[in-house]
Amino acid sequence: MDLRIKPLELILATAEKKSLRRQLGPWQLTLLGIGAIIGTGIFVLTSVAANSAGPAMMISFVIAAVVCGLAALAYAELASMVPVAGSAYTYSYAVMGELVAWIVGWALVLEYAVAAGAVSVGWSGYIHGILRELGTSLPTALMAGPFDTITLADGTTVAGTFNVLASALALMVTLLLVLGTSKSAKFNAVLVAIKLAALGVFIALALPAIDGANFQPFMPNGFFANEREIGGAVLTVGVTAAAATIFFAYVGFDAVSTAAEETVNPNRNMPIGIIGSLGICTLIYLLVAAGAAGSVGAQPGGELANSREPLAFVLREIGYPWVGTAVALAAGLALPSVVLMMIYGQTRIFFVMSRDGLLPERLSEVHPTFHTPHIITLITGVAVSLFAGLFPVRMLADISNSGTLFAFAAVAAAVLILRRTDPGRERHFRLPAAWLVCPLAILGCLFLFLNLSGHTELLFLGWTVLGLAVYFLYGHRRSHLAPGSPHRPVSMR
Ligand code: ALA
Repeated sequence: MDLRIKPLELILATAEKKSLRRQLGPWQLTLLGIGAIIGTGIFVLTSVAANSAGPAMMISFVIAAVVCGLAALAYAELASMVPVAGSAYTYSYAVMGELVAWIVGWALVLEYAVAAGAVSVGWSGYIHGILRELGTSLPTALMAGPFDTITLADGTTVAGTFNVLASALALMVTLLLVLGTSKSAKFNAVLVAIKLAALGVFIALALPAIDGANFQPFMPNGFFANEREIGGAVLTVGVTAAAATIFFAYVGFDAVSTAAEETVNPNRNMPIGIIGSLGICTLIYLLVAAGAAGSVGAQPGGELANSREPLAFVLREIGYPWVGTAVALAAGLALPSVVLMMIYGQTRIFFVMSRDGLLPERLSEVHPTFHTPHIITLITGVAVSLFAGLFPVRMLADISNSGTLFAFAAVAAAVLILRRTDPGRERHFRLPAAWLVCPLAILGCLFLFLNLSGHTELLFLGWTVLGLAVYFLYGHRRSHLAPGSPHRPVSMR
């Protein structure tokens, strides 16, 4: 059977055309990773984790960090061998062939586009909080989507109609990307500083306010995922279920691996950057979780668990209302850059897929004035703004996680396959104990996937089936690797 494996030489030849200066050291890589990682996960999903696991959400943060750490090592090895755009999709193309690559690329739509929607919804929660502090607010119906609810001042909950702010943010970011806003390293450094300062202040004020009694009961919903009714809704809860959701907070470290080409001494610095940024974020997340749970309590169905702006809520509760508003402002400033990175990543993956013939080539047309892939950016942006307008943050984060977990597992599998099929190729970073680390990474991803809610898993399967239909109806024939295609490399004819 012709798996249509894309020769690595071909991929590397494309990459070599644009050779970048090697200038990133361990610190820059670590900052890059932290910039991409810290976002809605810690600023917003902390309350979702509390609702699911109670104070034991601290264990959930550790479980998710371990799975990400294992997958991150696998990313580092592949990124140091195949340092090109498209990440998991491109690696899979070179190792497992076109069909697997397509499924991975299709799953990455969930990782990037749906995540952009989740971060937009998270951002809107903080902006709504700031508006409330200013004594104003949008009409309730416009504060959340129809599948989400809003808690009114008297404690009752009502369904929303459309989350206008979240949707508008996604459209604004899309417009910036069409106009050609490039990622500026300096700007990123400022935003990283703002995020770190906000979390640092939170930790400094919340930790001294810890009262041991707030950690009791520690694990109210048990360890393994189970279903319970909380606040009138049946939810998948427990420490492992919270880990599957909070996994979202760590996604983004793959950004470090995509900088492999620009790294000085990648063999040493890639793992430092990836493990370093993950390690620092894990530590910060644990301190934030401990501070939040210990200072105001984190019982399922409680006030923290129901907050849309949990970190600002905690600071207000413990007597620092102005600092709470400042942290909300920091989130309001910094989260849009995560949305930008996610939509940018999505458009570049679509771009590579359409350059391979698997999606219509018109999609990757570049705008004559702005020099950006405007068609695919606009399509992506409109879809993201609809997700953001309609769905709640947990649902979007969980769906995004399902796609990301699949892509991570595929990358870990690709490392092992390449070790067998191409043992002699230079690996600037060679992952230690690959035959232990990669299977553990795959099992970890599978474990977290199985701890997502049943309807998230079904949605993922439905999305994959849809992707297969699109592939067999379109990409299979139009692929540049299809027999008879004028683009098919001479070596494959
Ligand atoms: N890790 C990123 C966030 O939490 C996706 O927003």
